[in-house]
Amino acid sequence: MKRFNVAVLPGDGIGPEIVGEAIKVLNLIGTKFNAEFKLTEALVGGVSIDANGVPLTEEVLKLALGADAVLLGAVGGPKWEGLDYSIRPERALLALRKELGLFANVRPAKIYNDLIDASTLKPEVIEGVDLVVIRELTGGLYFGTPKGVELLADGTERGVNTMVYTTPEIERIARVGFEVARKRRKKLCSVDKANVLETTELWRKVVIRVANDYPDVELSHMYVDNCAMQLVRNPKQFDVIVTENTFGDILSDEASMLTGSIGMLPSASLGATKNRAMYEPIHGSAPDIAGKGIANPIATILSVAMMLKYSFDMEDASNVIENAVEKVLNKGIRTADIAKPGEKKASCAEMGAAVLKEIQG
Ligand code: IPM
Ligand code: MG
Repeated sequence: MKRFNVAVLPGDGIGPEIVGEAIKVLNLIGTKFNAEFKLTEALVGGVSIDANGVPLTEEVLKLALGADAVLLGAVGGPKWEGLDYSIRPERALLALRKELGLFANVRPAKIYNDLIDASTLKPEVIEGVDLVVIRELTGGLYFGTPKGVELLADGTERGVNTMVYTTPEIERIARVGFEVARKRRKKLCSVDKANVLETTELWRKVVIRVANDYPDVELSHMYVDNCAMQLVRNPKQFDVIVTENTFGDILSDEASMLTGSIGMLPSASLGATKNRAMYEPIHGSAPDIAGKGIANPIATILSVAMMLKYSFDMEDASNVIENAVEKVLNKGIRTADIAKPGEKKASCAEMGAAVLKEIQG
């Protein structure tokens, strides 16, 4: 029997609700596919600040470092927004990414035929869209120094963040982009702002160099502003997009809306070795609907599917989950975020139960 240790960090807001449903899916998969998942749950984000004074304790970091994979819900909320940046809930996420070395964030955006009407874009524009955003996750503006806000002599303030990338950082994320593209439609679009930002000029140069090792992959380059526009104008042109941290944050939110709801998109954050991996929905903690039981658990359930595929080599089990989600959508089961006006809305638990039922077969 295969055995895996999974650190489960539900976090804040809707985190516990959606992770609760995803765990049921993972446990059922364990039974069906003869695998044992040892789940260890811990606090992260705002709930950890409340309990321990910090968003990520040493113990929880150790738990994550010792696990085969981490499943995370979401962090943050208005309750903690006034805190200093250094101890905000979001810091937990950033520290986990940094400490685990999760430099590659894989965010697939795929259109489900049954949800075409849920998108704000025209059906003919989004039909058949199937793309992946590969976001660099441990560099750029999020981590570059100098950073901070300083008080100037005249009483005004000066805020600084720095976009920094080194050649090895660009090279390794470019390779992930090419490798992922190679297993798909073999088209990689590298997104930068090389006409203005020197660091992304370097990005482009390095990506072009790495391309020599992947002659079978068609490489193109796009400025980030143009890419933002092309994503809504003609998203079908994209297969794999590789880009730096902040651009990837923004473009992946945009890409999610092609699918109708940000509640549908999973993600994998991967490091240099197999046991460095974290899976989470791309959406946030949605404090406005937290505790109401109406959140969409699909992004988290699909994150479990990604975990099975990338971390545990259980591709069959992963496909079973993806197919189950597709069937549930085909049956017209909709949480509030993807329901049309007047349509019956399933709760988070009902959506989770519907997916479980399909997996059970
Ligand atoms: C994401 C989120 C995070 C980010 C926040 C919560 C720190 O928006 O995962 O996309 O900006 O990376
Ligand atoms: Mg984001």
